[in-house]
Amino acid sequence: MTAPPNWSQAAGNAWVELQDLMDGLYQPIAETLITTAFPGEGGAVLDIGCGAGTTTLQMARRLGPLGRAAGVDISAPLLEAARAGAEAQGIANATFLQGDAQTLDLGTAAYEAAISRFGVMFFADFDSAFANLRRALKPGGRLAFACWRSPADNPLASAPLEAAAPFLPPIPQADPDAPGRWAFADPDRVRGILTRSGWRDIEIAPLDVPTPIALDDLMRLTFRLGALPPLLQQADAATREKVHAAVAERLASYEVEGVVPMTAACWRVTARG
Ligand SMILES: C[S@@+](CC[C@H](N)C(=O)[O-])C[C@H]1O[C@@H](n2cnc3c(N)ncnc32)[C@H](O)[C@@H]1O
Repeated sequence: MTAPPNWSQAAGNAWVELQDLMDGLYQPIAETLITTAFPGEGGAVLDIGCGAGTTTLQMARRLGPLGRAAGVDISAPLLEAARAGAEAQGIANATFLQGDAQTLDLGTAAYEAAISRFGVMFFADFDSAFANLRRALKPGGRLAFACWRSPADNPLASAPLEAAAPFLPPIPQADPDAPGRWAFADPDRVRGILTRSGWRDIEIAPLDVPTPIALDDLMRLTFRLGALPPLLQQADAATREKVHAAVAERLASYEVEGVVPMTAACWRVTARG
């Protein structure tokens, strides 16, 4: 099994570096979640695994000066970027909390709603994490999050590993239930976790977002984030070069008129506390 991302080091720093690119790709997902969970001006909303705070800040703006948005994240570098963003944009009604959202005291009935763009698939114990999150919401409060469907539904995510594999030691089969990007690929599993942790009115629907991307940008993402960078840590320069060439050739095969027509195949999950 590959090691889980270290959000306060390599993975967190890579997200900070690539945040503008990610935000461009995934803005339609932010929009969907914010619109779905918006409790009205003056409300209070929690953003789980908020990263560099893009969705928290957008929600804060939508809630207006009498509302408040709080982002929670485990990663110091990402929260530093989030706080800097709030300051640069002059947003005073957003706060950021550092900690593991599975165990951190998020208050009781403190929020009307919670959102998360790709921030809820990394908990060590999903049932207790979602019970903790539910406690933080007022009864009937709205949860709306986006998570990834399977690697088979997102073939461009696994293409780099397939291209790199001939040059690397055998890549161990990933455990589909392990915390990580694909942990919520199975909607029955997600429904089970939410049901056991007390959520109701659970709805899980496909969310397919076109994310066309320039080949150079896709190469940057591939070599900074996800499964490939940790596998290349021990590789020598010649191996890295071969992997780079093989991955570039593979990804270029998807290119149409200078753009790789990628789609983010996700689930849009909603529930009430
Ligand atoms: C894929 S990133 C998404 C970031 C952000 N939501 C966005 O859309 O840009 C996942 C985020 O979840 C955070 N995270 C991972 N495990 C966490 C945990 N146990 N508690 C709180 N945040 C966590 C990471 O630090 C990271 O910022």
